[in-house]
Amino acid sequence: METKGNSGRTKIVRYSSSLSQLECEKIRFYASKFAPCGPALEIGSFVGSSTIFIGVEYKQHGNVVYSIDHHRGSTEQQPGCKNFEKDLYNESIGKIDSFTLFREQIEKFGLEKTIIPIVCDSNIVAKYWNIPLSLLFIDGGHEVEQSINDVNNYAPFVVEGGVLAIHDVDVYGKHEDSYEGPRAAFFQAISMGFTPVDFKNALVFLRKGSPELYGVPKEYIKEITNGRGT
Ligand SMILES: C[S@@+](CC[C@H](N)C(=O)[O-])C[C@H]1O[C@@H](n2cnc3c(N)ncnc32)[C@H](O)[C@@H]1O
Repeated sequence: METKGNSGRTKIVRYSSSLSQLECEKIRFYASKFAPCGPALEIGSFVGSSTIFIGVEYKQHGNVVYSIDHHRGSTEQQPGCKNFEKDLYNESIGKIDSFTLFREQIEKFGLEKTIIPIVCDSNIVAKYWNIPLSLLFIDGGHEVEQSINDVNNYAPFVVEGGVLAIHDVDVYGKHEDSYEGPRAAFFQAISMGFTPVDFKNALVFLRKGSPELYGVPKEYIKEITNGRGT
């Protein structure tokens, strides 16, 4: 994404190795539809690329985006792993620190009053969460237990008709680097009364409510879940 700042200089978002530009644009589309309906929550801020795409739309409607991340990186982002980004590694503490770049990007896009960072483990925040959500984007820890925790803890707060987006879902489990966790989270969301309505690459969108509400044939849900979660 590019925007012109007050200085007239072009600002370009830095993408993570995780979410592609096309996926970011797709989530922006949903953000534009749901921004008038209350706050959003993202789990997995990282360097803020998806956060910015959601934030620019919520800003226009005077609504906020909470974004939870401990900013120490997921398992696959640690040194030696496939999504390790060297410039985010703080040698002096021997840990990933994605919060510095996250803040820089949020400020560059003038979103300090729209995006509310919560620097903490999502399991801890969940104990205190009670805010209804128009949009929930889950892209945090990808282990099965963690992915399911995030859905169980936060999806109940999505308002009726609201949207739940989950990243790294490979519905049919066909791809080599698919994540079992996000796929399990997807099935869990269906069993909690969400209906899959759209996707872009590995980013799926579900809405709270039954398949009849969204004109999605029940046979389709049966096929993709293969009996699970329904
Ligand atoms: C794949 S990245 C998110 C990418 C981001 N959505 C983007 O668009 O670039 C996953 C993030 O989840 C965070 N994370 C993993 N487990 C977490 C947990 N239990 N609580 C909070 N954050 C967590 C990691 O620190 C990491 O920054």
